[in-house]
Amino acid sequence: MKRTKVIDALKCTAYGSDICVKGWVRSKRGSKGIFFIALNDGSTIKNVQIVGDDAKFDEETLKRITTGACLSVEGKLVESPAAGQASEIQATAIEVLGDCDNTYPLQKKGASWEYLRTVAHLRPRTNTFGAILRIRHNMAMAIHTYFHEHGYFYFHTPLITASDCEGAGNMFQVTTKNLYDLKKDEQGKIIYDDDFFGEQTSLTVSGQLEGELGATALGAIYTFGPTFRAENSNTPRHLAEFWMIEPEIAFMDQEELMDLEEDFIKYCVRWALDNCKDDLEFLNKMVDKGLIERLEGVLKEEFFRLPYTEGIRILQEAVKGGKKFEFPCEWGDDLASEHERYLVEEHFKKPVIMTDYPRSFKSFYMKQNQETADGGSIGYKGAVAPGPTMQGTDVLFPSIGEIIGGSVREESYDKLMSEVRRREMDMTHLWWYLDTRKYGSCPHAGFGLGFERLILFVTGMQNIRDVIPFPRTPRNAEF
Ligand code: 4AD
Ligand code: MG
Repeated sequence: MKRTKVIDALKCTAYGSDICVKGWVRSKRGSKGIFFIALNDGSTIKNVQIVGDDAKFDEETLKRITTGACLSVEGKLVESPAAGQASEIQATAIEVLGDCDNTYPLQKKGASWEYLRTVAHLRPRTNTFGAILRIRHNMAMAIHTYFHEHGYFYFHTPLITASDCEGAGNMFQVTTKNLYDLKKDEQGKIIYDDDFFGEQTSLTVSGQLEGELGATALGAIYTFGPTFRAENSNTPRHLAEFWMIEPEIAFMDQEELMDLEEDFIKYCVRWALDNCKDDLEFLNKMVDKGLIERLEGVLKEEFFRLPYTEGIRILQEAVKGGKKFEFPCEWGDDLASEHERYLVEEHFKKPVIMTDYPRSFKSFYMKQNQETADGGSIGYKGAVAPGPTMQGTDVLFPSIGEIIGGSVREESYDKLMSEVRRREMDMTHLWWYLDTRKYGSCPHAGFGLGFERLILFVTGMQNIRDVIPFPRTPRNAEF
């Protein structure tokens, strides 16, 4: 008999018809010679209930129906007398496809997140991880659909690169060299001539620079792929391998970029509410009681657009009023997550798009705001800053902090080069990037959304290790 997925079996109302389902046993209980099996096949958070008469099955088979075992069940679909389910299956034949003994690590309910990370190869079979992973899939579909519908082209940027986009120098090297026998030159520098690519290469930290090549040819592109950062950040928000979505758009200015950031995130959240109802309801009940309300809240809010300089003023005001921060917040300092959270969660109580950052801690490629005679600059809606600023526009979210990092790009070759020189950057490997500013340069802008940070927000989970099937973090590359 052809197999029916549990999600379809639960919707089916052809009571009395024969049906075959396959899946893993979530639980089995019995009473007065009748057994009840909760069977799940991953197609939905919901289990289908299998009911059977002990007497009609041989004892050996019944013994093998344990938590975690894989079954094929044939029977009749009937209306269920039990609350909370429309139908159930009266079993006529059960085949154990895969036994599961009592060493199965997922037998006990209520295991901690930490424990489940040690069994990441099996945790997708739990209710919570099933829900998270189905939502993750749905968010990927939302992202592709959004960009496709808005006329963006999916542009594939390389994972192996000879350049460092963010200039942070925290990249994983790619080599086929024998690490026990490295050839070095007279200054002790490694010689890469005989390496696979003939030069030093790394895993990419961002597809942006190549994305700009796409945008200045196709008009609007997006990337969606893995990125790698060898920063030793053991936090609930950082992974060494994470997925990033990077749209890049020609002829887009700062205001339009902020519009896009806001519209895009809202679209994804709405998609989750529209398409992941059962999974969200489960998470709302089991993981985070305020989840659905928070998701709906974000759709109603207009994100607050805040120049960095104004943000610093608010933070300093708060300090004067008695608020204690661990880190300083002088103009020119990068914001710590405590500052971001204060602004988003306590002051504005809604997502914030922060813009016009000091150039001291932002990337070389960002558009420079017009400088004033006294060394200040003029930014978003004419706001004045005491020092040079760039059109970086980050989205800060409640409980997540930075979810998007973006900017308008400096399109002037001369201005870009003056910044490159100021930073004493070696552009040997980025000659092709500079060509975009030499040949038909155009205003353009883009951003990067950390996929896992979006999933954190949408699922209400607290740790980024729990929203990707197999997390990569310092000292952990298992599975
Ligand atoms: O702010 P970031 O570093 O920006 C860029 O890489 C730009 N090139 C993007 C662009 O303009 N095209 O990273 C973008 C986003 C962050 O806002 C954050 O959501 C996520 O990527 N992110 C990480 N997510 C998980 N683990 C990490 N280690 C992350 N680092 C950044
Ligand atoms: Mg950033």
